[in-house]
Amino acid sequence: MIEYPGTVIVISHDIQFLENVCNRIVEVEMGGINDYKLSYRKFLEEKEKQRVVQIAAYENQQKDIAQKEKTINRFMASATKTKMAQSMQKLLEKVDRIEMPSEITKAMHIRFAEVPRSGRDVIRTVDISKSFGEKKVFSGINITIERGDRIAFVGQNGQGKTTMAKIMAGLLDFTSGRVEAGSNLHLSYYAQNQSELLDLKSTVMQVMEDKAPEEMRSRVRNILGSFLFSGDDVDKKVMVLSGGERARLAMASLIMKPCNFLILDEPTNHLDIYSKEILKNALKDYGGSLLVISHDREFLAGLTNKVIEFKDGYTKEYLGDIEYFLDKKKMDNMRSVELQKSDNGTNGSKDAVMIKKIDSEDLRRIKKQISAVERDISKLENDIGLLELKLADPNFYENLHYVETNKKYQSLQENLEIKMLEWETLSFEVEGSV
Ligand SMILES: Nc1ncnc2c1ncn2[C@@H]1O[C@H](COP(=O)(O)OP(=O)(O)O)[C@@H](O)[C@H]1O
Ligand SMILES: [Mg+2]
Repeated sequence: MIEYPGTVIVISHDIQFLENVCNRIVEVEMGGINDYKLSYRKFLEEKEKQRVVQIAAYENQQKDIAQKEKTINRFMASATKTKMAQSMQKLLEKVDRIEMPSEITKAMHIRFAEVPRSGRDVIRTVDISKSFGEKKVFSGINITIERGDRIAFVGQNGQGKTTMAKIMAGLLDFTSGRVEAGSNLHLSYYAQNQSELLDLKSTVMQVMEDKAPEEMRSRVRNILGSFLFSGDDVDKKVMVLSGGERARLAMASLIMKPCNFLILDEPTNHLDIYSKEILKNALKDYGGSLLVISHDREFLAGLTNKVIEFKDGYTKEYLGDIEYFLDKKKMDNMRSVELQKSDNGTNGSKDAVMIKKIDSEDLRRIKKQISAVERDISKLENDIGLLELKLADPNFYENLHYVETNKKYQSLQENLEIKMLEWETLSFEVEGSV
């Protein structure tokens, strides 16, 4: 075929053959084509380069969007800033979203191995207390987990979440009380330091095969692929893997072990956004009971239906997911600040005094700047509105000046964004001071 003087079109999965025969690759993907005037290997290298760039761009944009959404939400809650929040929202909606590289999105469907369901009661702790020597972690804790419960443990570091998870998993003795396990319970436990527990001398494949029951063997490569281990990666020793890769491997090997109650202690530490997404999707599909310890709000959102907060040696249950819990906390906090204020009108809240760092002179100056920026923003929004009317005119492109008008529109939009940012920064300064 190499000798043939005419044009050849080949469809094949045979990489070596493609490499030998072709000097141009047309990739068909997601309903479109990408044309590369390259050999097959060069094409793969090019794809990889593009993928890395796209991932970075995607991650940056996601961070930026999350930041903006946070600001918008905060501003929405404040009567004087609603209008500003709405403008920001409009701008944000217009941003062209960068898509996640497609082969990763495709890889995202994995399932935890499951076994027949447990009894109705999964685990119950009765009056559990735990001390390490003199140090009391908690006392009198009663937690009941029933089949199908999806629970999040939250709380600051050192409040006893890991301790309680280990007690439930039967890995740690307690000082008093008792733990009752239900019938037919098959529990899997992912430790906070799970990736440090991997055998350094094993290869990726060996770690998986050690864990895989017979019926899962055929799926090992698929699962590894979903966690972005492909080709020769599977022969690498754990010792040479990066922290992120070890975390992915630890998670992939956990997925192999069939269970009906899953305890995950900070599973997203070291996981990149894709692996997190893969894991979250798999957990959403998981039919067993679930207990997750995490500080990652985005990961927890919509994943659980009960939150147990660990604080000062006690626990408190909230019947909802993490967003519900945070809203509830916010309201409680606001209420207690209100109470403090009315209790003690003279010094309000201590925190407010602590963060006061700009004096009233500065404050007046900044407020003046804010008013000026707000005027600029109104004017820009007005001008943009007028131009949008012009752009919407069906005869617009017959107008000789349409290129300039388009440019003008772009530049007004850019100015608006700059002004918004300026306004945001100034508002933060003022907020921090009152
Ligand atoms: N083996 C141990 N020996 C002594 N103290 C411990 C031990 N394990 C945990 N602690 C202490 O118990 C408390 C609760 O720890 P932990 O359950 O790990 O908290 P969390 O998971 O909520 O961050 C901490 O103050 C911690 O220092
Ligand atoms: Mg912990």
